[in-house]
Amino acid sequence: HDRQAIVAIDGPAGAGKSTVARLVARELGLMYLDTGAMYRAVTWLLRDRDIPLDDEAAVAEVVAEAEIRLQVPDDDPQAPCPVWINDRDVTEAIRSLDVTAHVSAVAALGCVRRYLLKQQQRYGRQGGVVAEGRDIGTHVFPDAELKIFLTASVEERARRRHQDLADRGEGQIGLERLARDLQERDRKDSTREIAPLTKAPDAIEIETDGLSIEQVVRAIVDRYRDRHL
Ligand code: CDP
Ligand code: CDP
Repeated sequence: HDRQAIVAIDGPAGAGKSTVARLVARELGLMYLDTGAMYRAVTWLLRDRDIPLDDEAAVAEVVAEAEIRLQVPDDDPQAPCPVWINDRDVTEAIRSLDVTAHVSAVAALGCVRRYLLKQQQRYGRQGGVVAEGRDIGTHVFPDAELKIFLTASVEERARRRHQDLADRGEGQIGLERLARDLQERDRKDSTREIAPLTKAPDAIEIETDGLSIEQVVRAIVDRYRDRHL
């Protein structure tokens, strides 16, 4: 068959989606698509322009002229994937606390979701993609050949976030605050009206507490090969 498969990976914040999806894509020779980076880039742009996030008309105007570019560095799989919006490199900026605090509100807006949905589906038109986010298996690629729902306990996810921040020299935020922030974002993402975070009925759930990154990657790659994709 000539069209390559699509792998959809969804789950709550800190479950390991980005890390695992990138490694799975590399091992299978597929493209990696970080849809969260797109929501973060739009959030950064709206905050940079001081647009009130509850003014949907103003948001729609900015979104209509937003051009997002995602690049995948093929050398170092640990290096952050470059993200550009309207010719600004926002790779670092989209990981800020401010963007993280506001992204769920932006991601609940219909005009933002409609716009990004179209862009994301364009990346998948030829297949051959490992896409990661909140609504990939349910809305973006409902016909994906393999759907994975990654989870971990909130304590474990907060520990991972804490370690990530410490590695970047930002270890000041306590575990409890991180856990609260993660839960608040998950609550907003799971309860919004449009395309909420939820497990697709045909997704395979992997609970990753106590599993290494390699073990999770192996479990997904094995499923992919078992299905002769
Ligand atoms: O990496 P992290 O778990 O912090 O989040 P992310 O994947 O970068 O996504 C950031 C935010 O974008 C999420 O909390 C959601 O509000 C939103 N998002 C979404 O609504 N739908 C997606 N497919 C991906 C992200
Ligand atoms: O994208 P998402 O928010 O779901 O998670 P992430 O940004 O990939 O962050 C997960 C963090 O937990 C990374 O620092 C990984 O190294 C670590 N980790 C993991 O992803 N999976 C495990 N089984 C164990 C640790």
